Amino acid sequence: MRMVRPHRSPKGLFDPYYVPDRLLHRDRDLDTVSGVYGDSFEDEYGVNCLVHGISGVGMTVFSRYFLTKIVPEQFDAHTVYVDAQRKDSLEIVSELHDKVHEQIKKPLTVAFDLDILWMQFKRAASAARKRTVFVIDNIDETNEEIFGKLARLSKEIKASTIGVLNSHDYRLLTKLPATQMAYDFEVPLDTYTQSQLYDIVRMRVEDTFPLGLTEEVVRYITDLVVEFDASKPKTTIEALKALWPMATRGQEIDSDAVRSATTSITSFLNDGDYIDIIEAVSMNDFMTLLVLEALAEHLMRYKTETYIDRGTLEEIVNIKCEELGVKYIPKDIERSLQTLVFQNVVFESSYSSSLLYTLVPPEILYDAAINMRRELARRK
Ligand SMILES: Nc1ncnc2c1ncn2[C@@H]1O[C@H](COP(=O)(O)OP(=O)(O)O)[C@@H](O)[C@H]1O
Ligand SMILES: [Mg+2]
Repeated sequence: MRMVRPHRSPKGLFDPYYVPDRLLHRDRDLDTVSGVYGDSFEDEYGVNCLVHGISGVGMTVFSRYFLTKIVPEQFDAHTVYVDAQRKDSLEIVSELHDKVHEQIKKPLTVAFDLDILWMQFKRAASAARKRTVFVIDNIDETNEEIFGKLARLSKEIKASTIGVLNSHDYRLLTKLPATQMAYDFEVPLDTYTQSQLYDIVRMRVEDTFPLGLTEEVVRYITDLVVEFDASKPKTTIEALKALWPMATRGQEIDSDAVRSATTSITSFLNDGDYIDIIEAVSMNDFMTLLVLEALAEHLMRYKTETYIDRGTLEEIVNIKCEELGVKYIPKDIERSLQTLVFQNVVFESSYSSSLLYTLVPPEILYDAAINMRRELARRK
């Protein structure tokens, strides 16, 4: 396995079929697939499987990693990958047909009839000197028939087929007999833990960003996706894609930039909602407003810092209390923070609960806190 990175290229952000040099934290699943295919190769029989998981978890990259890195290394086989998404039967079979002819180096025949194409594909696939591993990505209701047909053919000609589908279609299709009959085993792909997702984002940054990104930014993106989008690597890569043009322009990637790159998953509350929530939680609660103000002020001042740790926050609140001649009670700060976290105004990092972050620009929280504090003062 090559560990050096010859050059950094944005391909890893913009090519949906990009396969990184290393597939992180999937060793066990790769071993399972390689083991089963190894046996089928030795004993010369076909074996079919289903790879499934939630959309964005890394199904495509898993199947393509197996096809483009493991198979050429371990088996002397042809490989054919077809993405079936939004393609009709004729398009899928044409692609299978063309790719098999390419692999066996036979000139292409031309046909526009589904049955004829299938016959020609079948003939070429059966005549291949080597055995073939097929991947059909994005199986769903509209194309499961072709997957089933290909899986049956695979058994006949001692080839193998890997079907890839999301959890929703998996539940739907495996209830029906056609798909149920078509596979021998399955590989459910789990979601990643926070630290595994962090590794994936870090590696992709190293593969694609000429000058890298700070540790803090990588952690922030990871945190947001863990908390708000089921730890999907796809979403982290989308965020990097949005940041990449800024980074190459030489713009500093600060917390505002990360927030704007992830609004699609975090904008379930709008600015007005925040003001309402803050108004509600801080009704006659001077300390909570002070804590929020201190937190927002810090994040506004240090734009490249995406987190504030509890220790720093306590110090700032302490100073504010002195200035205002208010008694400083650490237990009150803790209670205020609990309220803010519970109300989704402030979030604890999944990396460490002493690191706090927000979803909205701190300016909005700051203004709301200051206004409410004035309001409270006026009412007295
Ligand atoms: N284990 C992993 N190691 C490296 N990159 C990964 C890993 N899992 C997912 N990715 C990356 O996450 C992104 C989304 O994966 P993809 O396979 O397209 O998701 P899916 O097909 O499940 O919707 C891709 O850029 C992919 O390369
Ligand atoms: Mg996919």
